[in-house]
Amino acid sequence: MTLLQLMPDDAPGTVLLRTTDAATIAGELAGHGVELNHWPVRGPVAPEDDSDELLDRYRAEVGELCDRHGFRVVDVARLHPSDDPESAARAAKARTTFLEEHRHAENEVRFFAHGRGCFYLHLGDRVFATVCEAGDLLSVPAGTRHWFDMGTRPDFAAIRFFEEEDGWVGDFTADPLARSFPSLDELVAPAQRPAAR
Ligand SMILES: [Fe+2]
Repeated sequence: MTLLQLMPDDAPGTVLLRTTDAATIAGELAGHGVELNHWPVRGPVAPEDDSDELLDRYRAEVGELCDRHGFRVVDVARLHPSDDPESAARAAKARTTFLEEHRHAENEVRFFAHGRGCFYLHLGDRVFATVCEAGDLLSVPAGTRHWFDMGTRPDFAAIRFFEEEDGWVGDFTADPLARSFPSLDELVAPAQRPAAR
């Protein structure tokens, strides 16, 4: 389920808002120019499924979005859980890259066809931890400070939209704040209950 947890940027342990209500999440984000929309999910995505076939499932939505916003490049970023040590190492490396705060010269637009990932949007003096799941289309404006956590066992397939071939380069802010905030795993973990006596 899509989740928003809002925290002050200087107090990661303080939860100002935590909600799974889609309208509330979209409204909070829209106030900062971030768009969260939803497309119908067209079936599960298995590791062996072809990425071109996956794109084809969403051809109508993808085409309409590209026409409307001038996206010229579309691809699929995906990782599936694996017990193979080499695959796990590659996933861990991919995770680390975008765990540090950065921004881009163009919008970061992602549609989750499968799995989930968390965008941490640093908007004003707050951090909006936004856990996206299958069906979510998130558009983060250019220049927005943010980081992304795919979790310790990445499992997602996201359609990515670009204006330029090389327009999506991370400009890292060197601000270490990302390390203080709860990870994706922590955000979605069931609430801890006191042990029964
Ligand atoms: Fe990014």
